[in-house]
Amino acid sequence: MKFNDKIVGKRVCLKALRANFETAEMVFKVVDESREFLLPWLPFASLERTKTKEDTYDFLVESDMLRKKGKSIVYGIFVEHVFIGITSVVDIEPSHKRGEIGFWISKYHSGNGYVSEAVKMLETELFETLDFNRVIMRCDSDNQASENVMKRLNYNFEGKWRQHKFQPLRNKYVDYLFYSKLKNEYFKG
Ligand SMILES: CC(C)(COP(=O)(O)OP(=O)(O)OC[C@H]1O[C@@H](n2cnc3c(N)ncnc32)[C@H](O)[C@@H]1OP(=O)(O)O)[C@@H](O)C(=O)NCCC(=O)NCCS
Repeated sequence: MKFNDKIVGKRVCLKALRANFETAEMVFKVVDESREFLLPWLPFASLERTKTKEDTYDFLVESDMLRKKGKSIVYGIFVEHVFIGITSVVDIEPSHKRGEIGFWISKYHSGNGYVSEAVKMLETELFETLDFNRVIMRCDSDNQASENVMKRLNYNFEGKWRQHKFQPLRNKYVDYLFYSKLKNEYFKG
């Protein structure tokens, strides 16, 4: 599966992230600045998991390994050459032509439609260039901003996985909402 290294949109540019110290520093800085914004939804942003840029480097090394195996791809979201967040495809199953899109953005750049634009560009890559048949997205049922991205891009609600994860910050089990889009739905528009 050959992903494009760079996808250029109207306002947003997606660049595949590689494991090197410069990239690790760039990503770590944004995670560190937006820790409180990300943490309720993404446990990787905790100080236990991402305390230093070396932790981010390890994440990039692991991502690179998965990319080489065709299991995932991680793109940086750039606006005017500034790194503002990530969108990725994980759990790629080439024989079933499916995968899951994830995303996060710096708190300073949220609320501008950049994530919706980035995910739209990524799904175009998946359905049109790579012939995917099914793309899923999922979120904590309390994560309204995330669910809004899925709804805005016309993903179909598939269901709720009850108490799917334990959320230490809220000290409770949280439900997960699953959304998907199929190839035929994508091409119907
Ligand atoms: C979830 C998350 C990525 C959503 O980011 P976002 O910036 O709200 O999403 P978008 O880029 O699609 O922007 C949509 C917002 O921009 C507004 N907007 C402004 N200009 C816009 C434009 N040109 N086009 C589209 N939307 C625009 C929309 O009205 C919307 O605002 P609203 O939510 O107040 O209605 C972000 O909140 C985040 O990173 N949260 C923490 C991590 C996380 O939860 N990740 C997902 C885990 S499942």
